[in-house]
Amino acid sequence: MMMTRRIIMQRKCKLGLSIALWLVSVGLICAHNEKSPTALSIKEGSDDHSKGEETLLEDEDSEDLEVFRPTDKWQTLKPGQAVPAGSHVRLNLQTGHREVKIGEEAGLKYRSDGNRQGTMNMHGSSFTAEELKEALKKFKEGMDDLVDTKDEDAVRAQFRPIEELKKDMEALDMLVETDVQVMRRLLNQFNNTNSTNEEKITALLDLEYLVHQVDNARNLVSMGGMQLVINVLNSTDIRLQESAAFVLGSAVSSNPSVQVEAIEGGALQKLLTLLATQRPITVKKKVLFAVASLLRHFPFAQSHFLKLGGVQVLSELFQTPGTEPLRVRIITVLYDMIIEKELISQVGMDIIPDSSHQERLRQYAEVSLLPMLVEQGWCRLVPELLESPEHDYREKALRTLLAMMAQCQTQYKQNPALTASLSELQKQYQELVLTEQDVGEQDGYFSEILALVDSMVVKMRQV
Ligand SMILES: *[C@@H]1O[C@H](CO)[C@@H](O)[C@H](O)[C@H]1NC(C)=O
Ligand SMILES: *[C@@H]1O[C@H](CO)[C@@H](O)[C@H](O)[C@H]1NC(C)=O
Ligand SMILES: *[C@@H]1O[C@H](CO)[C@@H](O)[C@H](O)[C@H]1NC(C)=O
Repeated sequence: MMMTRRIIMQRKCKLGLSIALWLVSVGLICAHNEKSPTALSIKEGSDDHSKGEETLLEDEDSEDLEVFRPTDKWQTLKPGQAVPAGSHVRLNLQTGHREVKIGEEAGLKYRSDGNRQGTMNMHGSSFTAEELKEALKKFKEGMDDLVDTKDEDAVRAQFRPIEELKKDMEALDMLVETDVQVMRRLLNQFNNTNSTNEEKITALLDLEYLVHQVDNARNLVSMGGMQLVINVLNSTDIRLQESAAFVLGSAVSSNPSVQVEAIEGGALQKLLTLLATQRPITVKKKVLFAVASLLRHFPFAQSHFLKLGGVQVLSELFQTPGTEPLRVRIITVLYDMIIEKELISQVGMDIIPDSSHQERLRQYAEVSLLPMLVEQGWCRLVPELLESPEHDYREKALRTLLAMMAQCQTQYKQNPALTASLSELQKQYQELVLTEQDVGEQDGYFSEILALVDSMVVKMRQV
């Protein structure tokens, strides 16, 4: 479930980036349409327009297209405005608007043969991840407006046949490849002893944005960047620790080969040290994120985690005053591991076991988490999370309690606070379910939680 959501997010991200890059490249190409210097002042004869352009023009009726007169200063382009060929068009990353000024030969290095030259130029300017995300957001909003008002200026400003647009899209694929170059630049900035810590952190955060893509994360490894990131986990600057953990977590998410590299690079030991020693909560959050991503679907890392005393580290962290915001995250890490192993063994019943499945079963068999949880007091710790006012915290706690039922039932029964919490929650959610049903919701969130509470009550009574 979580993984699916992640993947979708990554796709969206990629698509968003593509759109932004497309916009910029359209801008660049449009600005460099040497063939027809007046291509965009549509009203003056269409002699030198190709066939495709004419087809587009026919749909235009007599609606006027405003042609923008650029000066030597950057000016914002309004929707519907076309620019003369030879102008510089850029995407302002602060506002998400396109801006234009008179072109100078030296300024643009775009080459119409689709060479990467021009696009590298673009990457060369350092957009931070935040700027890019913000621009994408604004661009998307702007796009909705365009559709609403049928003010399709992007299309009008182009009047180019579909084949040419396709070529742009191909050029775009090459653009995406140059992520490698961006990463090289960022790694150099990060690895340069002359860089300030601020510059290093900026480089890390930009890297974090890039390594969501599976290939970029692999490239981070092959470029030697993974080890650099792991090395700063124990830097003396807590902001560097935090950013490094963030990059690491994103790079290993849903990326098995990178998970392996991170484990071999000694990441887990360093992350656990960060969790076990006094750090600000912001650092611990990112470190927990990295630990969770490192362990997910990776039984080898999970056994390693157990051997390194990970469960003990997490139970101490759970009980440290002031770390309440981390509690649900900690329990989620544990719950995910329990469920993963369970699902793997269930899958075995449905499919014809192949050798890789056997191997996975063997690896998960070595992850002996539940006995460790009992030993470290989790039968008693998880019920504490039920006292949280947050519904999703309670839900997570209930699911985890149920997952540990076989090992913890005796302790649950001897825990009067748990019994009291459960009957209190039962009352609360019975009422909340009624309010849900009042608005016509039969199987709402509250009925889901109530079902979990009921199930706990029933299973605790069983002998
Ligand atoms: C660091 O700065 C010094 C002095 O400005 C310079 O000589 C050196 O080449 C720089 N080192 C790197 C790795 O850029
Ligand atoms: C980092 O810098 C060191 C020396 O300054 C160099 O040997 C190493 O190759 C660099 N690593 C990466 C990944 O760029
Ligand atoms: C970080 O750990 C490595 C080895 O684990 C050690 O060589 C290095 O000195 C440590 N760095 C700091 C700043 O403590």
